[in-house]
Amino acid sequence: MCQESEPQSSSKNPYLYLAPIKGVTDALFRNIFHHHFDGIDAAVAPFIPPQTKTFFNDKTLADILPQNNIRKPVIPQLLHTSPKDFLILATRLEDLGFTHINWNLGCPAPMITKKKRGSGLLPYPDKIISLLEMVIPRLKVQLSIKTRLGYAKKEELLHLLPSLNNFPLKEIIIHARLGTQLYRGETDPEGFAACQQISHHTLVYNGDIYDRNTFESLAARFPEINRWMLGRVILMNPFLAEEIKGLPEESLTKRMERLYSFHDDLYEQYQEKLWGPGHLLGRLKQLWMYLIYSFPEREKRLKKIKKSTTTAQYLDNIQRIFDI
Ligand SMILES: Cc1cc2nc3c(=O)[nH]c(=O)nc-3n(C[C@H](O)[C@H](O)[C@H](O)COP(=O)(O)O)c2cc1C
Repeated sequence: MCQESEPQSSSKNPYLYLAPIKGVTDALFRNIFHHHFDGIDAAVAPFIPPQTKTFFNDKTLADILPQNNIRKPVIPQLLHTSPKDFLILATRLEDLGFTHINWNLGCPAPMITKKKRGSGLLPYPDKIISLLEMVIPRLKVQLSIKTRLGYAKKEELLHLLPSLNNFPLKEIIIHARLGTQLYRGETDPEGFAACQQISHHTLVYNGDIYDRNTFESLAARFPEINRWMLGRVILMNPFLAEEIKGLPEESLTKRMERLYSFHDDLYEQYQEKLWGPGHLLGRLKQLWMYLIYSFPEREKRLKKIKKSTTTAQYLDNIQRIFDI
């Protein structure tokens, strides 16, 4: 299994996570991404569906199995809120050799939050504390949390953080938005700064780190932060982690060649894995919602990709995009 390495603390060598994006950053995507692009140190996997089971078999856990994640360390993510179910899955992950797992307290999807999961649990700090009290003494792995500034208001995380200081968490990843914002509106670096004042834990900054300039200004604003997470932003520009780490710049032609070859591999491997052109096109169209930002005239081109109903049409449209 690929193990996480502890980063050197330096703003020149930040530790970069690939964020979980359910429906896009699955194991196949992660392996191909890490093969074609540099700069990411580890990935948090999209959450494992919070089913009640007495045993999670290999098929259910295929996305995070070590043999399916050969290139970079992966951290499995749990969304369970019942301590018993949480422990059943966490123990299975320990048995698979994981040393770090992550608890999702950030998902904003109404289907999830209305069940008091993800960011929907943030208004109920007692439930969070009670799960941690039950679970942490029984865990052999390190636990981190991925969260938001709150579900409906910033005070929610601010009120929770002093209690979280009492638990030996590996780190807290904060997407600097509220759950009710979904993915809209501005991120709130000041809200993150307020959390930093209170938390004794290592914090990871996440949300809208669109480019190297944005990263540089956040790194200057938060000199103590060395861990960062990139989600939609790196799907829009797969070279982002390389740019942040200051790897040598390449010509536009070279970049287009690399993007082409990345897409080629994805297409080929999804074609082998997914059943039928509907699934294949559905998955690739999902990625293009982001990847299109690497190309000019994106609205016109995205429209064409979305309209492709056959693989031949799809490939023709992709070829035109790369012929620019
Ligand atoms: C379609 C989609 C699916 C996501 N799935 C997950 C998930 O499974 N677990 C999680 O913790 N965050 C999930 N996120 C949130 C991202 O990991 C990340 O926190 C968010 O996109 C903000 O970072 P960014 O601005 O770099 O994208 C998802 C986001 C999107 C847009």
